[in-house]
Amino acid sequence: MQSLTPMFTLTTLFAVLAAVQAVPAPRRAAAVVPLTLTLDNSSINFDVAQTAEAAQPLDPQLISLSIEFGNAIDFFGDVGKPNEFSRKLLQNVVDRSGIPPVVRLGGNTQDKWVYCDNCTAALSSIVEVNPNHPMSSEAVNVTVGKAFFQALEENVPPATKFILGLNLGHNIYEIAQAEVDASLKYFNQSRILAYELGNEPNVYGGYPPVPARWRPSTWTVVDYAQQMLSWIPRLRARAKTNPPSFQFGSMIGPPTPFQDFSLTTLARMGVPQNIGGVKYFASHGYPENVCTKEASDQVQLTNYVNHLETVGFVSQYQGEIAAAKSAGAIFHIGETNSVACHGKDGVSNTLGALLWEIDYALTAAAAGVDRLFFHSGVGGFYYAMWEPLPVNSTTPAHINPTYYSMLFVADLVADLSQPTISRIVKLDTFDMAQYAIYEENRLQKLVILNTHYYNDTSETRPSKFVNVSSVLGPNIKFRRLTGSETTARSGVTWAGQSVDASGNIVGRLITEHASNGLIQLLASEAVIVERNGTSSS
Ligand SMILES: *[C@@H]1O[C@H](CO)[C@@H](O)[C@H](O)[C@H]1NC(C)=O
Ligand SMILES: *[C@@H]1O[C@H](CO)[C@@H](O)[C@H](O)[C@H]1NC(C)=O
Ligand SMILES: *[C@@H]1O[C@H](CO)[C@@H](O)[C@H](O)[C@H]1NC(C)=O
Ligand SMILES: *[C@@H]1O[C@H](CO)[C@@H](O)[C@H](O)[C@H]1NC(C)=O
Ligand SMILES: *[C@@H]1O[C@H](CO)[C@@H](O)[C@H](O)[C@H]1NC(C)=O
Ligand SMILES: *[C@@H]1O[C@H](CO)[C@@H](O)[C@H](O)[C@H]1NC(C)=O
Ligand SMILES: *[C@@H]1O[C@H](CO)[C@@H](O)[C@H](O)[C@H]1NC(C)=O
Ligand SMILES: *[C@@H]1O[C@H](CO)[C@@H](O)[C@H](O)[C@H]1NC(C)=O
Repeated sequence: MQSLTPMFTLTTLFAVLAAVQAVPAPRRAAAVVPLTLTLDNSSINFDVAQTAEAAQPLDPQLISLSIEFGNAIDFFGDVGKPNEFSRKLLQNVVDRSGIPPVVRLGGNTQDKWVYCDNCTAALSSIVEVNPNHPMSSEAVNVTVGKAFFQALEENVPPATKFILGLNLGHNIYEIAQAEVDASLKYFNQSRILAYELGNEPNVYGGYPPVPARWRPSTWTVVDYAQQMLSWIPRLRARAKTNPPSFQFGSMIGPPTPFQDFSLTTLARMGVPQNIGGVKYFASHGYPENVCTKEASDQVQLTNYVNHLETVGFVSQYQGEIAAAKSAGAIFHIGETNSVACHGKDGVSNTLGALLWEIDYALTAAAAGVDRLFFHSGVGGFYYAMWEPLPVNSTTPAHINPTYYSMLFVADLVADLSQPTISRIVKLDTFDMAQYAIYEENRLQKLVILNTHYYNDTSETRPSKFVNVSSVLGPNIKFRRLTGSETTARSGVTWAGQSVDASGNIVGRLITEHASNGLIQLLASEAVIVERNGTSSS
């Protein structure tokens, strides 16, 4: 694959791109997954001060939400008819950390919505269900009326902020302008974190196996750059005061095979810096997909509960993170989840996926990612944190285990004002991940995940003792995330508590203690550990 020289003009870039051949679809290298547990106990021993120097900010909204635009009303409910399940699930997060996740409304249907000023419905959509295609539950056309904004404003916790996706796909400036105008007129702009123009524009011209959809196959990064430089300033100028912020890019990812059409390339060209108001850079990514039968057959949970695989996945974003930071922007993995094309049953909706999600988010945070937006939609989205409506006559609205990731991170940051995070790299193994959480360079907490795969409940569940005495002292308290087995689709508990069918937290909160610094972690468990009382380290 060609690599671009660091310095070039638009013209030379165009020439280079013209020569670029179709690159192969991103594929995970076959992983060698050791299946035996390292039974040795381990001591959590590392240079606390040196590790603090490498720490990155840990955003309280690290785990945020991306919702398929056409499903926004399904998720939050209509005017006067809030979806109480969703509201409760968001409020549970607020009750812990004081702040709800950011909600990005976007995805494929972002490029299919239009605003209709005289339509009374908040949202109406055309869905053409094809039982043979996992993506067919997504709307083909979405029409939004002014009630849409009222519903969003009334139905979510008051501090909720949105990233509102705008339609670039149709390639008609007036459509995007009408969307911004409607939001400016009918939506309290304190609800807007940013607007985002277009979803995954780097593959508008097609990319195997994705066919060209919104642009001819000759579409290049230069065409995109010119459109952004022209449209975003005009859209921002629609606001009489306080021109809004934009999120830029939202490229399909992980970025490795798309370097010619990436944030790195665009930042080098100076594009986002010259638009004005670009506060966020976003790149998307899913480790694997079920978009084709062949791809689906390769998807295995063992790849997700492999911490070293997760570290490798996140490392692909290093260049994009650096591009954002060098342009003074905040970096979002703006749409992500375990398995593209709505997830895989038995993988995306399990305890293992939950452990993966926490490990992935914390690895990303330690690498400089500010937030991750875990994607959801309605109806057989196995990777959704929750299904807000009954899926069919036998499957009611429900959470999936991955919902607990938001509670876990909310508790992790709850009592800290400006936490930072570092991965304890030297302790990494395929099934153990350790993170140090600091405040003002003082070690406050550890997160320890034992991601070891355990699916055969007739066998004794492997476990491991970790000794945190050398960094936190012997007197410790910890909360435990657990479930019956890696493949469990339900029955997860966090600190002894779970979420019932109405979205309420139930059960007695359990905090465990030890005075010898030892924690026993079963295969597929995670803990947050801190000092018990004021013992020094
Ligand atoms: C690990 O530590 C536990 C608790 O101290 C002990 O019972 C066990 O024998 C140790 N295992 C190994 C392999 O050293
Ligand atoms: C809204 O207005 C458009 C154009 O003026 C018209 O075509 C459409 O039928 C109207 N829709 C409704 C629901 O009144
Ligand atoms: C969806 O919208 C497009 C563009 O507005 C239109 O051409 C198409 O006919 C619509 N499809 C359906 C099924 O209504
Ligand atoms: C918009 O929301 C902010 C923050 O909640 C509030 O202070 C303000 O009054 C609202 N503006 C309008 C016009 O409702
Ligand atoms: C209902 O949905 C669930 C979850 O997608 C699926 O497993 C089940 O087969 C569906 N049942 C019917 C009757 O369609
Ligand atoms: C557990 O996982 C292993 C490894 O993937 C597999 O070989 C085995 O069949 C699974 N056992 C059960 C009971 O699902
Ligand atoms: C735990 O680590 C501390 C400090 O390194 C050590 O003194 C202690 O003996 C260890 N405890 C066990 C049970 O190994
Ligand atoms: C932990 O701290 C609590 C409250 O300070 C105390 O009551 C308890 O005895 C401590 N537990 C251990 C195991 O030291």
